[in-house]
Amino acid sequence: MEARQENPYLPFAAPILDIYPETEMEKTYRIQARLSANFGQFLEISLPGYGEAPISLSDMGEDWVDLTIRNAGRLTSRIHQLNPGDHLYWRGPYGQGFPLENFTGGHIVIVAGGTGLAPLRGVINHFRSNQDSVRKLDILAGFKTPSEVVCSRDIENWEQCFNTVVTVDDACEPWDGCEGLVPNFIPGLDIREPENTRAIAVGPPVMIKYAVQELLNKGIFQDKIWVSMERRMHCGMGKCGHCKIEDKYVCLDGPVFNWSLAKNLKD
Ligand SMILES: Cc1cc2nc3c(=O)[nH]c(=O)nc-3n(C[C@H](O)[C@H](O)[C@H](O)COP(=O)(O)OP(=O)(O)OC[C@H]3O[C@@H](n4cnc5c(N)ncnc54)[C@H](O)[C@@H]3O)c2cc1C
Ligand code: FES
Repeated sequence: MEARQENPYLPFAAPILDIYPETEMEKTYRIQARLSANFGQFLEISLPGYGEAPISLSDMGEDWVDLTIRNAGRLTSRIHQLNPGDHLYWRGPYGQGFPLENFTGGHIVIVAGGTGLAPLRGVINHFRSNQDSVRKLDILAGFKTPSEVVCSRDIENWEQCFNTVVTVDDACEPWDGCEGLVPNFIPGLDIREPENTRAIAVGPPVMIKYAVQELLNKGIFQDKIWVSMERRMHCGMGKCGHCKIEDKYVCLDGPVFNWSLAKNLKD
């Protein structure tokens, strides 16, 4: 522990307990780790010789953490070859997560695009376990095609307790769900008290832009909308400046930002 206090870049080793294939490109890894963290925060995940990358917490329990990892490049393609019992290395948690304490009692709207659903999985599971703490929860999740739908296991559970709309841009394969871009489903939501409604949008920047516009059109206040911004990072702890946008460090001040601030952050 002392060495880590001197060198915050030193990672911990964590055995992989389980691997769940989500799609051809994404898998969820359950690692053994004990964390005090908030959903929306991220870990720097590494393998010696393959590099390091920020990965959001997808869910967590007392002594485990789930990470949903897309096979995107050098590190993550190597991670996709690992098996239960192998080790991942982590440091963190870093950044600001979703201020869930601000969400209790009201109506919540969650809008996710693609793997943007992964960092929201823990948030939704939290409210599933604490259903008394929310009045209503709408989940809108959009994917390019049916074979790219992540968190299918969870979606089946969420459908039992929340209004859950899963849509694909292009139903090129057999699909009995909705078709169309996810922001297009926001106007149809029944939002009776916009002043008591909080919203989260996570996904590609263009999806966030249109989703936020539709949320604002529904009368939700801009300071009650949160987004998560992905940005190329190195240190994850405010030292290298890699993630800086204007005067904000995405790794320290984000990746979760309130829209009243995020709307002014121009890349
Ligand atoms: C806060 C945060 C949270 C994240 N959470 C997750 C998550 O939960 N799950 C997940 O799967 N991913 C997540 N990511 C994205 C993940 O960190 C990246 O995909 C990471 O680059 C993967 O590392 P890699 O070595 O496998 O891929 P890389 O080798 O880094 O390649 C990834 C992609 O980036 C391109 N690329 C590589 N270098 C550059 C460069 N210098 N400039 C531009 N493009 C380049 C590559 O061509 C490739 O398309 C998150 C990112 C951030 C910032
Ligand atoms: S990643 Fe180094 S300052 Fe943010």
